[in-house]
Amino acid sequence: LVLVIDFGAQYAQLIARRVREAKVYSEVVPHTASVADIVARKPKAIILSGGPQSVYAPGAPQVDADLFTTGLPTFGICYGFQAMARALGGDVARTGLSEFGRTEAQIAEPGTLLAKVPPELRVWMSHGDSVSAAPAGFTALAGSAGAPIAAFEDTGRGLAGVQWHPEVQHSQAGQLVLETFLYDIAGCRPDWTPANIVEDSVEAIRAQVGDGRVICGLSGGVDSAVAAALVQKAVGDQLTCVFVDHGLLRKGEAEQVERDFVAATGVDLLVVDAAETFLAALDGVTDPETKRKIIGREFIRSFEGAARQVVGAHADEEAGVEFLVQGTLYPDVVESGGGEGAANIKSHHNVGGLPDDLQFALVEPLRALFKDEVRAVGEQLGLPAEIVWRQPFPGPGLGIRIIGAVTRERLEILRDADAIARTELTAAGLDRDIWQFPVVLLADVRSVGVQGDGRTYGHPIVLRPVTSDDAMTADWGRLPYDLLEKVSTRITNEVRAVNRVVVDITSKPPGTIEWE
Ligand code: XMP
Repeated sequence: LVLVIDFGAQYAQLIARRVREAKVYSEVVPHTASVADIVARKPKAIILSGGPQSVYAPGAPQVDADLFTTGLPTFGICYGFQAMARALGGDVARTGLSEFGRTEAQIAEPGTLLAKVPPELRVWMSHGDSVSAAPAGFTALAGSAGAPIAAFEDTGRGLAGVQWHPEVQHSQAGQLVLETFLYDIAGCRPDWTPANIVEDSVEAIRAQVGDGRVICGLSGGVDSAVAAALVQKAVGDQLTCVFVDHGLLRKGEAEQVERDFVAATGVDLLVVDAAETFLAALDGVTDPETKRKIIGREFIRSFEGAARQVVGAHADEEAGVEFLVQGTLYPDVVESGGGEGAANIKSHHNVGGLPDDLQFALVEPLRALFKDEVRAVGEQLGLPAEIVWRQPFPGPGLGIRIIGAVTRERLEILRDADAIARTELTAAGLDRDIWQFPVVLLADVRSVGVQGDGRTYGHPIVLRPVTSDDAMTADWGRLPYDLLEKVSTRITNEVRAVNRVVVDITSKPPGTIEWE
């Protein structure tokens, strides 16, 4: 375990990710954590993150100097580097020479930390103050125009730091510098691998669940699938998965869950075929928010019904059904303050709102993982690539991609068009370049066309390819023209009732990714 102490930089999570890319497990803790708490976690090393302020700003978070008496190897980055210098008796000066963005660092003395990198490094900096004198016992390793001392180390004590941000991609050899600290200075070993994650997680699930029974909702998405597969591996015969098929999925998705996922994992699956109920509830509804509310409500009803069924089936057992699996990921944990998981179902926003008489403890096997790690674990567990690499898909499904009322016939049209777009995107090898590729049916819009010898009066299909890192913002995806042409030709030729294909070239903001 490597603890990243967060001084309020936006980079702390990124540092933790980079450490994990070096196959060393890492977590973020707030700078308010006490030295005793930190030591109690038994970390192998500490990383002090960057921070937004000057070390001299009033109220600036300081490093507790006791941290350096613990003997824990420590790496300071940017603000963390300066805070370390100051706490150990070095000088941090307001030179007035700020550096923001790309900077050259000259290496004067490679030491251990910079032994493997070129003598001049293009690095990414963001600082006002600079370290002007290294603390006693430290060797200054590098400098830049605005930072007389831009890197130092005291390998005898396992201490080192850099003024730049090795965690950002614009910093040359950034990962190598981090890895050199981790392996060569702190003595960490690269053993955080998918195989070990699975092994640890299986053990933890067994310890938590004992011989209790577990229920897990599957959505068809990667998170719930991987969470379920881990629990299955840990306590297979105690798990029942529930899949509510609301009839708003894309072509082949229900089969992926019902057939491929079961084949890959052997889970006991209860399928609730609720398409009729959802369609009836959505009859004639066109307002997006109303659609979402209805779909959410029906989903809870269906899931609750299934949960009661599972609970009932095991009512005579001593343990009964006690646990519900939830696919919470590490970024959600950090963003919600990193506290321990809430103890019951009410906090579960995907399946939220179950009645009080159905209370479960949560099992959250993905709580420590970033999304890319979830995928690596999914691959390790042998899940189908279509599930592991699936792009995000909204819970309300195609219900919010039909602009107008949802009918069985319209769902079929959209499913066919969507399947063509997805097939061609995959064939072009662009699945992992495009974050998401919604296909939308403008069901209440018609336009004139000519197909064969006759005039048509059909519906437009909108293609909405987007690129994004987190769905908070997005840009429209620049798909190659020949791919767009192929999708357009195939959809207008093969999908009844569609005579026009248009591409949405709006970024987010101002547009959202989905149309409703
Ligand atoms: P928007 O359309 O707001 O979408 O840009 C951002 C991301 O969220 C997904 N999305 C949803 N996911 N339930 C979900 O699980 C929903 O109701 C929902 N609405 C939007 C959307 O696909 C995109 O990834």
